[in-house]
Amino acid sequence: MAPLFPQLPVLSSNPGYTEAHAAYALVRNYYASKAFSSGNTQTVSVQCWLARMEAKKAKPTPIHDIYMAMNNVPVNIGVRDLKELVRILLLPQIISWVRGYDLSTVDFTLRKEHWIELVAQHPDVNAIAEDFFVTKANPRGLQTRTFSNKHPAKLYLGIDNPTYNTILAHFDELDSPLVDDDEEPPMSSRTSRTKVSSYYANWAEPLLTHLQTSGNPGLTTSPEAAHIKNALMLQVQPKLKAAKSVCSDFLIYILPGASWKTLIQNPRIFSDVTKGLPTHDVIFYNTKAQPVSGGFKSALPGRSKNALFPDSSPSKAVCLKQGFHLQSGDKVMYEGVSQVKFLCSELNLLGWGDTMMDLVYVFMERSESELGRPPFEIPVMRFVSAGLAISQSNQQEAFMVEEWIDPETQGPFVKYIHNNSGRPRDFERADHQIRAEFLSFCQHVQYFKTNGAAYISDFQGGLELLTDPQIISDP
Ligand SMILES: Nc1ncnc2c1ncn2[C@@H]1O[C@H](COP(=O)(O)OP(=O)(O)O)[C@@H](O)[C@H]1O
Ligand SMILES: [Mg+2]
Repeated sequence: MAPLFPQLPVLSSNPGYTEAHAAYALVRNYYASKAFSSGNTQTVSVQCWLARMEAKKAKPTPIHDIYMAMNNVPVNIGVRDLKELVRILLLPQIISWVRGYDLSTVDFTLRKEHWIELVAQHPDVNAIAEDFFVTKANPRGLQTRTFSNKHPAKLYLGIDNPTYNTILAHFDELDSPLVDDDEEPPMSSRTSRTKVSSYYANWAEPLLTHLQTSGNPGLTTSPEAAHIKNALMLQVQPKLKAAKSVCSDFLIYILPGASWKTLIQNPRIFSDVTKGLPTHDVIFYNTKAQPVSGGFKSALPGRSKNALFPDSSPSKAVCLKQGFHLQSGDKVMYEGVSQVKFLCSELNLLGWGDTMMDLVYVFMERSESELGRPPFEIPVMRFVSAGLAISQSNQQEAFMVEEWIDPETQGPFVKYIHNNSGRPRDFERADHQIRAEFLSFCQHVQYFKTNGAAYISDFQGGLELLTDPQIISDP
């Protein structure tokens, strides 16, 4: 018998989403390629569900609509290979569903109709073959076996009821932290701003021309739609109990940091975060909470299960943002790929903002080594760490996720310098006034260090953490 899959990927005992998805993609591509290969191996289609058998029920109950189908499976496949194939096909969806539950403790079974368990024989072949051969007597009374693959094999990857209940208990535990709305970080009051009309204007192009990064094809702020669609379609028909919908499972693409030198060598570094490897985490948020909106985005408080930006902060408080446009005065959220494109463009700006601030601090360090320390305190300010979060369990919604600017430690959310004027705003609070002036100084350094190509505007945020920058290019 030809081997089913020469190198059936070997997964670790409790694989993460990325690992499981890579194995799944490998297996899928392998079988897709078999569709066109010649050879006389008889093949069949299999359909598989994650399921359990409830007491007093005649049929298995599918779990969370976790389902996959596969063509071109050799009819003589043995139980062990078939079970592993089914497990690999369903695993990415299972991992999304269990939200961190340790799958190495789960004893899956492979079952067919009527919940009959398939158990390996020696030799381990023909696990399902008998369902595809019809035995007929020909006119001379001889029996013939005819192969027919008109109908797919229906299989279940089974979970026993105690395990299923333990997984549900794990969800309850995860869902509990947000039961009390008061625990959420409060949002600061609404701010507004006038923004340049050319919001999507490709500001990076003139900037790069100016910097004479020859050979560079130019920046684009729009990510590759196909890649994003792929990320969005990783899960089929997600179904979250509509009940609270305060907890969702996310794939998170973290925006990388880059020094000015790295950015100039690789100007596309921030333009498509989905090119990086995502992490996987659970974020709690309350869809009933009133979001705070600026002119372009609405922002909600949330909390992640693990610290998403451990290099910047151990905090698990996050801000979830989505872009909207106005239709007859009403805010209409961008949907699907448009939302992702919008957020990628915002993340690109944040990435550039962060690097341009770094440029200023590097400049100050160099100057200090020549001129000595200035006789006053220099504010320490930086842009928030951020990423693109794609929900795996709630209609594949996309959010920008960033560090929460907590008014308790960061003071009220303020706008230090507007987009339409280089003049820092006047503040009553001395700590705000010093920062507004410092940020104005930053603009000068940025203008100077980029040979007049660009600087950051629309400085806003807290005492240390900034967000939502704009870039003024070719000023
Ligand atoms: N990281 C954050 N933490 C807390 N609140 C935030 C954060 N980012 C934004 N906000 C609040 O949400 C509002 C809208 O977000 P912002 O990114 O400024 O969107 P816009 O593009 O519409 O100006 C801000 O004015 C501020 O009040
Ligand atoms: Mg804003």
